[in-house]
Amino acid sequence: MALKFITAEEAAMLINDDDNVGFSGFTHAGCPKIVPLELAKRAEAEHAKGNPFKIGMFTGASTGDNIDGALARAHAIKFRTPYQTNKDLRNAINNEEVKYFDLHLSTLAQDLRYGFYGPVDVAIIEASNVTEDGEIVPTCGVGISPTIARLAKIVIVELNNWHPKELRGMHDLLELSDPPFRKEIPVCFVRDRIGKDHIKVDPDKIVVVETNIPNDGGTFAPVDKVTSKIGRNVVKFLVNEMSLGHIPESFLPIQSGVGNIANAVLAAMGESKEIPDFEVYTEVIQDAVISLMESGRIKFASGGTLTVSNPCIERIYKNLDFFRERIIFRTAEISNNPEISRRLGIIAMNTALEADIFGNINSTHVMGSKIMNGIGGSGDFARSAYLSIFLTPSIAKDGKISAFVPMVSHQDHSEHSVKVIISEYGIADLRGKSPKDRAKVIIENCVHPEYRPLLREYLSNGVGGQTPANLYNAFAFHKAFMETGDMRDAKIGI
Ligand code: COA
Repeated sequence: MALKFITAEEAAMLINDDDNVGFSGFTHAGCPKIVPLELAKRAEAEHAKGNPFKIGMFTGASTGDNIDGALARAHAIKFRTPYQTNKDLRNAINNEEVKYFDLHLSTLAQDLRYGFYGPVDVAIIEASNVTEDGEIVPTCGVGISPTIARLAKIVIVELNNWHPKELRGMHDLLELSDPPFRKEIPVCFVRDRIGKDHIKVDPDKIVVVETNIPNDGGTFAPVDKVTSKIGRNVVKFLVNEMSLGHIPESFLPIQSGVGNIANAVLAAMGESKEIPDFEVYTEVIQDAVISLMESGRIKFASGGTLTVSNPCIERIYKNLDFFRERIIFRTAEISNNPEISRRLGIIAMNTALEADIFGNINSTHVMGSKIMNGIGGSGDFARSAYLSIFLTPSIAKDGKISAFVPMVSHQDHSEHSVKVIISEYGIADLRGKSPKDRAKVIIENCVHPEYRPLLREYLSNGVGGQTPANLYNAFAFHKAFMETGDMRDAKIGI
């Protein structure tokens, strides 16, 4: 049966007010680009006529501005899950216009199958190829695509000819069976393949919109003094762990979070003569991974998405045969799966927004109430990794904010999951330490020198007990910031 080709405008007309829509991709990579823009225009037109038009949104993680930005600006979002990074969407969430619920990325596909969040009415999937018998080959980001494609009544495929058809073969796509029929996931080595190279759906429910639109991949900030020091501290820690025999000579797979710090850390690992060539089992494959693959330092990368700048992706597409042998794209359900992370012995490195002196981590909320991005995959990995490391610059906003506080204003990862914290000042190895000893090592090794006296004072004013927190002034740093705009004004002795 011939595929049905329609325009983006016609595709947007297939989506109704109150529908739940699933989007392919993970970060900007692999996301549909043109139908969401038409959908935003449709919502604006309906609103102008006085009609309601809002949709529920399921995504792999953050998306491009064509999805989250356009739909937020069109006031077209009823609810949204999971991770997001778009400024306009973030504002709409924090203004309480959009209902947002944040969850571990590995769990969304199964939550959708269980029906926790209602049906998936429509799926919009960016593809590098689609066949008449319903085989869809994603582009360079997967997310929840196989699940939304299977569950949706209508599948709108954005066939984006900017991506080469030869991407087929780089994906490893598998949807898990749900309990009581789930079996072990047989990924025992980073490069193990367990699924198919395409998504198969009933061709009767597919409509195709053809496009030729580049990714909206930005570039990373160059490594600066602080991120480079964090990178060097990570290398120092890992080399010492090798010398102690905690990390084998063949090394262990690395998961690294998303953003400039992760890029700087990978670059530092690549430069180190003491760290052997290594593999990556992660969710986001960034620019640094590609450069290190070209230089031979990274042997293989399994991830959910190729979140790289456009010059970098063009390099990959020109040399696809080289990268096909070295990269696998998986669904978030597999790339972030705790079972696999524990089995492979992953070294997980994620960034904290705020940490407390006892080792609890806030990855998501500014001053306890405003969402930044979301937990993403950090919890999937932090809890199940062999070594869970959190990284953070010691201060933010020119020193007005200390990343280390007496008590986190929101908690995403507890002291029980956090093994090591690293800032530009040093390394706090928390393993085997009591809360009081953890506090001492975090203050002396990681905290910015300007904040050390305040935190020492807080600790010495503690009320004793297993965890010497003092609830009278646990939020003194946050209170000072809200009152004067500077945490250095905190009054600890009160
Ligand atoms: N309070 C308020 N603002 C803070 C802050 C704090 N404690 N710490 C940092 N910030 C601000 C920074 O000043 C910066 O602001 P700007 O954008 O206005 O410049 C912003 O937060 C981002 O901080 P930055 O140091 O540039 O780090 P980042 O871009 O690496 O982001 C997280 C850090 C925590 C927001 C990000 O890593 C994240 O969303 N993590 C959760 C998800 C995750 O870990 N995923 C990884 C699994 S792959």
